Amino acid sequence: MDEVRTQVAIIGAGPAGMLLSHLLAAEGVGSVVVETRSEEYVASRIRAGILEQSTVDLLRATGLGERLDAEGHRHRGIYLQWPGERHHLDFVDLTGRSVWVYGQTEVQKDLVAARTAAGQQVYYEVGDTALHDLETDHPSVTFTDASGAEVRVRADAVAGCDGSFGPSRCAVPSSVRQQWERVYPYSWLGILADVAPSTDELIYAWHPDGFALHSMRSSSVSRFYVQVPNDTSLDDWSDDRIWTALADRLGHGQDGWSLETGPITDRSVLPMRSFVATPMRHGRLFLAGDAAHIVPPTGAKGLNLAVADVALLAPALAALVRGSSSLADSYSDTALRRVWRCTHFSWWMTSMLHTSGDPFDAELQLSQLRWVCSSRAGAAGLAENYAGLPIGF
Ligand code: FAD
Ligand code: PHB
Repeated sequence: MDEVRTQVAIIGAGPAGMLLSHLLAAEGVGSVVVETRSEEYVASRIRAGILEQSTVDLLRATGLGERLDAEGHRHRGIYLQWPGERHHLDFVDLTGRSVWVYGQTEVQKDLVAARTAAGQQVYYEVGDTALHDLETDHPSVTFTDASGAEVRVRADAVAGCDGSFGPSRCAVPSSVRQQWERVYPYSWLGILADVAPSTDELIYAWHPDGFALHSMRSSSVSRFYVQVPNDTSLDDWSDDRIWTALADRLGHGQDGWSLETGPITDRSVLPMRSFVATPMRHGRLFLAGDAAHIVPPTGAKGLNLAVADVALLAPALAALVRGSSSLADSYSDTALRRVWRCTHFSWWMTSMLHTSGDPFDAELQLSQLRWVCSSRAGAAGLAENYAGLPIGF
């Protein structure tokens, strides 16, 4: 077996893993990243689209802000709407913070470019990833590399950044692991379309037929979602059916507003769930991002939470490899404060905006929406959570 020695072995080359290797390098700490997928596959996955203020601050402060500043779009807030009404919430006015439209695909490209320029070792297309000796101070990760050779990475610590299906979470023994889960009775059908956005900022729409979201990626590419039942098949949703549902739910024709349509370039169905696993640290294993928690996308928190985790984890690991364990010891508790805040906010946005078919629920949702849009305190609560609390909250 080939042996490699590093300070931190990182499992997963998604945003959490690649940003962690970038932040560790800035602290003078070496890492090796292992990833099951190809570089191209990881770079092209269509996922999150909104960066909160603290994510943007961190990317800029660590040399990753150039393309974000040139190509990202700063938004002051969002629109909330229900039939007959559309209201703008101005986060800058309410909290002094804003959000940016900049896709996860772009963040990933910037991370890969920065790590490649720095000579970072990333093993793509690995198999059989396994974690060993996590309760000692000499843990290791083994895998089969793309050529079929077996490799062992020896490290001082292992970072499990391997998303919701990776092996790291289950390496925390079930005797100490606690898990919380909420599965929602609906999914999102998401599309990407080559059409200029029909709105300047995102529209979150409550509608009796189900939730709809108008998002965007650039001045010529729009992203849309509609609430659909679980187990929906894409085969049942023709382009025509998708555009009709979006037009109805987003209010085409309302107050002179119209929805522009265009060629659909990507489509998928996303199940919605909330999930938290604790603790986020066991021995020399540290979990970050989707490996430890999943939120439904209604609050645009998944990617931002992964960034916030590694912003805490990098200094904790840097101190640990130099012999000081206090930040590593508090990592799980500190990270979980924000995880539960975002878990609550994502659940709250989801529950407020998705129809269940129950008329009582519908009245409560409309009442909540009216309150958020008419009370400065209600609006500020949403704005503070959506634009994101400072790192370390
Ligand atoms: P990931 O991006 O999942 O990265 C984990 C990496 O680990 C992957 O590249 C994976 O291949 C790798 N890996 C897995 N197993 C192994 C192994 N055994 N060995 C080595 N590597 C391994 N959030 C939003 O805010 N808005 C959205 O619209 C949105 N859409 C989403 C759509 C989908 C289909 C999914 C799955 C997520 C979406 N999210 C969205 C959530 C957001 O994309 C994630 O929160 C974010 O990607 C988390 O980053 P991460 O690095 O923790 O995990
Ligand atoms: C997206 O653009 O993909 C997006 C934006 C906001 C969300 C979820 C997804 O809440």
